[in-house]
Amino acid sequence: MSDTFTLSFRPEIVFTDESDRLTLQFDPHSLTLERPQPGLKSALKHLKHSALTAAQLTALVAEADGVQDGLNFEAELQKLINLGWICHSVLPLATAIAIATDYQLISPVFERDKPFIISRFAFLRQENEQLVLESPLSKAKIILLDWRATALIGKLAQSNSSFTLENLADSLIDVEIVQSLIQLLIATKMISLEPESEALAEWEFHNLLFHRQTRLKRLDDARKSKMPRLEDRERSHFIKSPMSDKVVFLEKPHLEALAKTDISLTQAIESRQSIREYDNQPITLNQLGEFLYRCARVKEIYTHEQDIMNIGEFTKRPYPAGGALYELEIYPVINRCQGLNSGLYHYQPLSHALYAIADGNSEVETLIFDAWKSTGMQDVPQVLLIVTARFGRLFWKYYSIGYGLILKHIGVLFQTFYLVATAMQLAPSAIGGGNSEQFGKIANLNEYEESSVGEFILGSLKQ
Ligand SMILES: Cc1cc2nc3c(=O)[nH]c(=O)nc-3n(C[C@H](O)[C@H](O)[C@H](O)COP(=O)(O)O)c2cc1C
Repeated sequence: MSDTFTLSFRPEIVFTDESDRLTLQFDPHSLTLERPQPGLKSALKHLKHSALTAAQLTALVAEADGVQDGLNFEAELQKLINLGWICHSVLPLATAIAIATDYQLISPVFERDKPFIISRFAFLRQENEQLVLESPLSKAKIILLDWRATALIGKLAQSNSSFTLENLADSLIDVEIVQSLIQLLIATKMISLEPESEALAEWEFHNLLFHRQTRLKRLDDARKSKMPRLEDRERSHFIKSPMSDKVVFLEKPHLEALAKTDISLTQAIESRQSIREYDNQPITLNQLGEFLYRCARVKEIYTHEQDIMNIGEFTKRPYPAGGALYELEIYPVINRCQGLNSGLYHYQPLSHALYAIADGNSEVETLIFDAWKSTGMQDVPQVLLIVTARFGRLFWKYYSIGYGLILKHIGVLFQTFYLVATAMQLAPSAIGGGNSEQFGKIANLNEYEESSVGEFILGSLKQ
């Protein structure tokens, strides 16, 4: 066990000392010790209120309770570290706090005067009015307690061939403290002693951060143990209000008749392909209406008898969505469609209608132009479907996995688009990129409330 760092309980742990009983609580777990030995009690109090090293704490227990108890303490302390209950500090500079369980902090052996550089994955951000160093490679976050720690991190971001610990410490702080800080940075993977593996080298910073943030259960997420509840002030209705007074009501297809004449599911899956060439006769308004109805209409509105999250009304639609919250909205951009003027529309899935937002002006044309460029400039798309997410429909419930969930929903919706388009003998293709800023300007959206997250093109199949 390292003696470089001082140890303390993580700040969220509630420590109660009642006569013969000590309780440690960190939601959803708690640990109760009945009549703890005096040395153990004292060590736990030190973990709450002061800063001793693991060796000092073990010695304290061994001295008061006996050598065997000292050894037991060391093993139990290691278990608490692995659970993420213990912070490691280099005072007065920094404290490492675990952000995930299975936490290991192995103090490394390193060559004092070999140059170090902070990982390209490490980043600084402000949290609770403190500067925090994090990295998607690390299971810890490091609270920078003192401006000198920030200055040292800044120096460690530059490669320096004349690196020595003395140069780094400069006149800022004692060189031994700088050495311990570097050990903490290495132990928490903010500095790596090894070159990046080939697999890691392929990762962009933001991809790895997004991956970790959406796949890791963070210990420091204060909301993790609370049942989420939709507060009335956060409510955004399951249907967007009409975006204009120019409405085009769409035809509803005869589903029973279609069920008899459609190709089979196997045929649809097997013949589905991305098609970016169209017939001279463009897609019709009725086809667009049928397509939207089959893919994305509201089929039913219902409520749950026991609505503990205060969600209120839910909807059923042809495609699945996490929590049945349905945050996605569809905005058809019409270039060529028989029976419908070119321009930008919003699809209202309850009334099964299009609301006109803008006519086919040059700004709207740039949306079509961008999609066309993404196809390698095959035929100019007849219809571009821009899909947005209304973030407020999801984020109150799904917190850090919210954005990842939206991308999954895009996948689910796109496959529905593909299969319905195949059954209808239309030409479908997903598009991998789009300009959400440009679209937000035209549709007058507040990017933090609603923004485009996916694009899909549709047209008539070449005869
Ligand atoms: C999420 C996603 C993004 C895509 N982005 C584009 C794109 O930007 N441009 C394009 O021409 N095709 C795009 N495609 C279509 C793929 O190129 C196509 O699915 C792939 O080549 C396989 O061909 P198939 O769909 O005909 O089976 C995309 C497909 C998906 C699922």
